[in-house]
Amino acid sequence: MATITFKINRFNPDDERRGHFMQKYQVEAKKGDTILDCLNRIKWKQDGSLTFRRSCRSGICGSCAMTIDGVNNLACEVQVMALKRDTITVEPLRGYTVIKDLVVSLDPLVKGMLKVKPYMITKTPPPTDQERLQSPEEREKLDGLYECILCGSCTSSCPSFWADKEYIGPHAFLKAYRFVADTRDEAPREHLEPLDDKHGLWRCHTIFNCVEACPKDLNPTKAISELKKALVNDKF
Ligand code: F3S
Repeated sequence: MATITFKINRFNPDDERRGHFMQKYQVEAKKGDTILDCLNRIKWKQDGSLTFRRSCRSGICGSCAMTIDGVNNLACEVQVMALKRDTITVEPLRGYTVIKDLVVSLDPLVKGMLKVKPYMITKTPPPTDQERLQSPEEREKLDGLYECILCGSCTSSCPSFWADKEYIGPHAFLKAYRFVADTRDEAPREHLEPLDDKHGLWRCHTIFNCVEACPKDLNPTKAISELKKALVNDKF
């Protein structure tokens, strides 16, 4: 067991005079405890007003993405003892509007996603006796493209997003490429065209923060480069 000091961003929209401030809490943590376990302990035993999102506790829903000691990650995936620190700072994801404490508005994430039409578009009628089929090799090309849990960590870490809140964002580029690369999709242009915009692909300066921030080890930068090539070569 160890006593860890948590410095947590507090913000209450009903108390504008106070604004943002850091509040300290002491938590007894043991091996195996995650940041989320400790936040729950604070909320349940010390301060019920502390506000944060959480749901699955298994790195699947993306709800508990936050900035932990300056690095975007899922609170349910980061083990406290692995950080080897007596004091841990927890802040809301950067770049988004803070609603309360550690909760941010993910509106920009949703707006970017909607622009790329994040669903399979087909023009031909579906086969009557089977699904639309792919070969195992065609299916394999989608690995690393479909696993995004929409936590918002990548876009929050991107300087292009900090400078332009209309920036479509690496999360949406990855999703666009997931459908552009899918051999069953019959309208790749419909996913690509919205990206050829001042808030789109050309605003990416290959900074790679999005790759570093992704808790699922995905690579939006590679997808962005494939999408740029597809646009420049007018491949579709
Ligand atoms: Fe941003 Fe990732 Fe491009 S961090 S600038 S989207 S490589």
